[in-house]
Amino acid sequence: LTACGGDENGSGDADQEMLNNAGTLQVCSDVPYPPFEYYDAEGEVVGFDIDIAEAIAESLDVELEIVQTGFEGIQSGVALDSNTCDLAISGMTITEERAGNMLFSEPYLDDNLGLLAATDADVASLEDLEGLTVGVQTETTGADYATEAGYDVRDYPDSGLLIQGLESGQVDAAIGNISILGYQAGESDTSEFIEEIDTGEQLGIAAQSENTELIDAVNEALAEMDSSGEMQELEDSWFRE
Ligand code: ARG
Repeated sequence: LTACGGDENGSGDADQEMLNNAGTLQVCSDVPYPPFEYYDAEGEVVGFDIDIAEAIAESLDVELEIVQTGFEGIQSGVALDSNTCDLAISGMTITEERAGNMLFSEPYLDDNLGLLAATDADVASLEDLEGLTVGVQTETTGADYATEAGYDVRDYPDSGLLIQGLESGQVDAAIGNISILGYQAGESDTSEFIEEIDTGEQLGIAAQSENTELIDAVNEALAEMDSSGEMQELEDSWFRE
């Protein structure tokens, strides 16, 4: 990350030494996680996070490339450290443990956990989970919560499979972030949103631990999106009230 020669492709004013590949911002994201990141009918990756990534790339004056990456690699910092991408944007909660392995931006969204249950499972609150199977996405804050609570937990590698597991009756309930579960419950007749779990999470964008230059640029872009009202517009358009 120290200066070593000029801007070879001469394409812009952004200092490109903070990127693995000059001219392109590579962003790791674990798809699907609607409405943060998912494939639309044309197979295009879209969502709240993707729009934010787009705005950051634009402010750096570089191209954006989304790199589909498993959440385990993202949350452990391995994907960043192995130069798979410059940034990770994945609805990722800022935690102390993760902050030891990567550098987080300022928070860009508040989040909590939530409980979703099959309509035919007799669940009215967290108290009713005894003896039932609870699905989670592996290595997420929801997985930590369910494991600590001592529930009978079933892990899914991605959140699409988790929702399928709930819809198909493999699990009776699911614990994950309210921002996605609330969205999911609106889409389905077979599962319903039961309650919010107040974990007070904040989501952040991450770079390699030493890449302060890039995170400074991310924070600048986020601040600009806040003051222009763009961030509010994105929230309004991607999340239901
Ligand atoms: N916010 C949760 C966490 O950080 C879940 C994020 C999962 N993201 C995803 N794209 N699958 O643990």
